[in-house]
Formats: sequence, C-alpha cells, structure tokens
Amino acid sequence: MPVTLVPSLPAVDTPPAPARPDPLGVLGVPGEINLDHAASAPCARAAADAVAELLPWYASVHRGAGALSRRCTLAYERARQTVGDFVGARAGDHVIFTRNTTDSVNLLARALPAGTTVVTFAGEHHANLLPWPRGSVRLPVPADPAGAVRALAAALAELSRDARPGLPVLVAVTGASNVTGEVWPVAELARVAHRHGARILVDAAQLAPHAPVDLAALDVDYLALSGHKLYAPFGTGVLVGRGDWLDAAAPYLAGGGATSHVGPATHEVRWATGPARHEAGTPNLLGAVALAAVCAALAGADRAALHAREQALLSRLRRGLAALPDVVELRTFPADAPRVGIVSFVVAGRDSADVAARLAAAHRIGVRDGLFCAHPLARRLLSEAAARTGRTDLPPTALRASLGLGTTEADVDALLTALATLP
Ligand SMILES: Cc1ncc(COP(=O)(O)O)c(C=O)c1O
Repeated sequence: MPVTLVPSLPAVDTPPAPARPDPLGVLGVPGEINLDHAASAPCARAAADAVAELLPWYASVHRGAGALSRRCTLAYERARQTVGDFVGARAGDHVIFTRNTTDSVNLLARALPAGTTVVTFAGEHHANLLPWPRGSVRLPVPADPAGAVRALAAALAELSRDARPGLPVLVAVTGASNVTGEVWPVAELARVAHRHGARILVDAAQLAPHAPVDLAALDVDYLALSGHKLYAPFGTGVLVGRGDWLDAAAPYLAGGGATSHVGPATHEVRWATGPARHEAGTPNLLGAVALAAVCAALAGADRAALHAREQALLSRLRRGLAALPDVVELRTFPADAPRVGIVSFVVAGRDSADVAARLAAAHRIGVRDGLFCAHPLARRLLSEAAARTGRTDLPPTALRASLGLGTTEADVDALLTALATLP
C-alpha cells in the first residue's frame, strides 16, 4: 500500500528573538555622568523590572489572606531567601531586612549580649564606628592589610588576658573602604577573631557591589549591606548572621509582626524569634524584592568579567589622576593594594567643594566631596598626603570618584579632562 508522505513544511525564517535588556544595565539620565556610585549606585534594570512586575499586586505582607496579599508575602520571603543565598547565609543565620547598612549595624549593636567588647579600626565609616557601646576598642588605621591582621591579633590577645573571661567580643570591620576603595583582609581577620573566641561583622556596604561576599566561605558571623549601593532603590538593607544573639535580644522595634502572643496585661508579650523579631511594622516589600532581583542578576552574571572591566576602568582613572600634577590620591595601604572602584583625591590649591560644583555645572559630572562620613580616616589621609608630597596647599576636604556597572571609559576620560582643564 502506498504510503502517503506528509509533505514537509517549507522552511520559514524564524525571526530572531528580541534581545532581552541586560538585567544589570543601569538606569540614568543621558548626558549625566554619575561617578558617585559609592554614595548611591544607579538603579539596575533588574530592580526596576521587579518593582514594575509586582506593583499591580500591591497588598499587605504577612497580614492578609487575599490572593494579592499571599503573593506579596511569598515575594517578600523569596526575596529573603535570594538575598541570603547571595551572601552565603548558613542554616541558623537570620536574614533581617532593615533600611540600610547603618540600620543593620545599629540593630546588631542593640542585640549584643551584655558586656560585649567591640573592636573596630579607626578607618571605618561612621556607621561602623558610632553605634558601638562605650568601652569599645578602636585600633589605629594600619599601614597595610597584614598590619591589620597583626594589630587585631595583638588587641584580641590583650583582651583575653584582661580580667573579662567569658565575655563576648565582636570585631567589626569594613570589607572595602568607602574612602579609598581598599579591600580589607576579611578572611584573615575572621580567622584571627575566631582563634580568640570573638565574632566578626563585615560592613559589606562597599564590597558587595563590587565582589562576591560569602559568609560561609569567609567564615564571617555577620554581614551588613545597603540596597541603594547595590543597584536597588533606597530604603532596604540587610543584616545577615548568627541567630542566637539576635533571638535573645530585645526586639529592635516593638510592634506588630514581632510578637507571637500579646496578652491583656500591659507587658504580657511573647516576642517572635527569627527575622520577624526585629522587623516590626509593615515591611518594605518593594525594596526587598528589588534588592533580591539585583542579587539574583549578579549571582547569574560573570562576576570575574565584571570585576576585570571595573579594574580596567579604575586603573585608567588612577593612571590619569597620577598624571595630573596637582592631583594627590588618598590611600591607607600601598598603592598596589587590591581595591574596588573608588578613588579619593585632592586638587592642590583648590577647594574640593568648589571643584565638585564646577564638575557638576560645567561637565555634568557627579562626584562626592567632603570627608565621606569617615572623618577620622579622611582627616588622617589628608595630613598623610600632605606629608608624602611635601605640599602645603592641600585642602581640608577631599573629592571621591566611584564607579561600577554602567561606567564607561568615556565617563572616566571626561572626569580626567575636566580636572586637567579646571579654570
Ligand atoms: C563602608 C560603609 N559603611 C556603611 C555605610 C552606611 O550606609 P547607609 O548610608 O546606606 O546606611 C556606608 C555609606 O556610604 C559605607 O560606605
């Protein structure tokens, strides 16, 4: 019997799928050059898209049985999981949404067991200097990363010889300096801390936007970061880390959502454990979801390539600055120490606020000027820069250029040209 063959369909040219916008592309205003990522990074498309997708579902979180509310609750808890995964949270760690790094550090400061001594370095951002209790130890800024490790080991050895056996110690250090961009030796500091029975918090506000940070791999106890420095909108940060101190502490805020039982008597209340204990009040769902979207996008990206690209821009910037006769870079560690895309500098003989204003007005370039909420460090680096160069005309405040996703060679060159042609 003859077999009827199904005629094959004529070949059709399938149109190419529309290119999907890069989730790590950043939003911005054409013509405006944003070299102030360290203050607040531009918003990534991943964050904007995640917010736009969720907006129609806008409803309560953890407080409603409706479909919208259930979806919002799910989105919030998924965001917690994603952010926790992004920073390598371990079983038993809490991922607590806060407003920003400052809020996260203050939360941990309030959760310290009584008698805890906190050890920091004088090079920290104010957010990691000011929240700590009286009696905290502030170590001098070291000359290099190895010096930081030695100084910490010596300080912790002295503390353990002290008459305070058994009392907790927390070491609180930055992952990368917001003034110099220099990367701190977090894993080594964590090893030293643990050898002396201390815990360690890493302020990852500046490190996380530029490099992977993994709590488990670094063996760090707590980590704090800000969404608005990590390409998400303002208003969300996280504190991630060991649950025991956090569950034993009084709630950061007292109110709805932080309780498991409230009775009729004035103070009859059982506080929840877990993240809810410190997240009273309706949470910032959109902020959490936006932050998680950026974390997911970064987790799926080739971070080595992003790092290489950023380092090439940073080298271009630093080489260009070094070639300008009146520009002096601020640094704590040797010039070749690893750093993220942040450079602080002064223009000798020029007021830094005036230079920043000219860059904005004449060139549409945004940089930061001042002492960068790290007054002890910035003042020290300014006087060291004067000593190193022998110049007596350095201004009392500095400029900072910081870059990241979306920064181009043209942006860097525009800054260098503008500085070279200051009237
Ligand atoms: C290293 C570092 N830690 C903490 C903070 C505080 O961050 P936020 O203002 O988001 O709380 C900053 C902000 O610049 C910072 O650079």
